[in-house]
Amino acid sequence: MSLGKPLKHFLDLDAFDGAMLRQLVDDAQRMKSARQGLPKGQCDDDAPLTGRMLALVFEKPSTRTRISFDVGMRQLGGECMFLDGRDMQFGHGETVGDTSRVLSRYVDAIVLRSKRHQSLLDLARTASVPVINGLTDKTHPCQLMADIMTFEEHRGPITGKTVTWSGAGNNVCASWIHAAVRFNFVLRIACPAEIEPDPAVMAWARAQKGRVDIVRDPYEAVAGTSAVVTDTWVQMSETDNLGEGGTRSRHNSLVRYRVDERLMQAAGKDAIFMHCLPAHRGEEVTDAVLDGPQSVVFDEAENRLHSQKAVLRWALT
Ligand code: CP
Ligand code: NVA
Repeated sequence: MSLGKPLKHFLDLDAFDGAMLRQLVDDAQRMKSARQGLPKGQCDDDAPLTGRMLALVFEKPSTRTRISFDVGMRQLGGECMFLDGRDMQFGHGETVGDTSRVLSRYVDAIVLRSKRHQSLLDLARTASVPVINGLTDKTHPCQLMADIMTFEEHRGPITGKTVTWSGAGNNVCASWIHAAVRFNFVLRIACPAEIEPDPAVMAWARAQKGRVDIVRDPYEAVAGTSAVVTDTWVQMSETDNLGEGGTRSRHNSLVRYRVDERLMQAAGKDAIFMHCLPAHRGEEVTDAVLDGPQSVVFDEAENRLHSQKAVLRWALT
């Protein structure tokens, strides 16, 4: 039950100011350093979430988000339960609002991975415990906390740098746009006209005077960049079909945005390669790039753990 204090939901990066997000990244880095060499199952020294329970409600598959939240909660001294949304009553007619009120009586915080962003908003509106966005069709803010942390580990402060996205203007891309504004870096998005980022998110970035541009040519977009980022061409619960009776596919539109060795060469040897994973090898990225010396994708995956611990600490203490 809420005691009248505002709930600390972590729904999207645009809801926070840059200083608050910076504090979370710094906290994550501090917790990562403090754990160097410790067994992964060992609690942090201060175990700040002892006695607290986190519910992970997932309507879509997950490896990284699910496991990193589970391990992170245990390292902080708390406990965690995984709930497959498809097995819950809300997958069979119970409203999100009723589910939210019930869960709030049992657990101290909820992570939701949902098919529809509106479900996340409905859950947060009706819950009396903090709600964390574990990915929706629109955004993936926890991924970006790990990505900013990873970028900075390899290339120093991100403020003022340039990052290039090459591929579909999807949910992860939308959170990169939020991050570009909040951490004040330049984001160039190379994508086809038919798969551009959400116009509402682009309009928000423009209103905030963010330095976010859409370009068609991936080679133009990677010139002088510090990082090349991509993601799967078809997101979970989307189809490959772009309409017109099935004659246009996302794959056909996106093939020129594939990140291969030639594109990485154009970006230069100082540019890192980033991908939230899972990757569809040979589609949006080649094996040579994903497994190559510029790739930091497994650091990104690891940093999901540390950055989400910072989010959990903030939300629950
Ligand atoms: N990057 C990411 O969210 O991965 P999962 O789908 O495995 O959680
Ligand atoms: N854009 C991908 C990200 C997966 C972590 C999807 O939504 O399927």
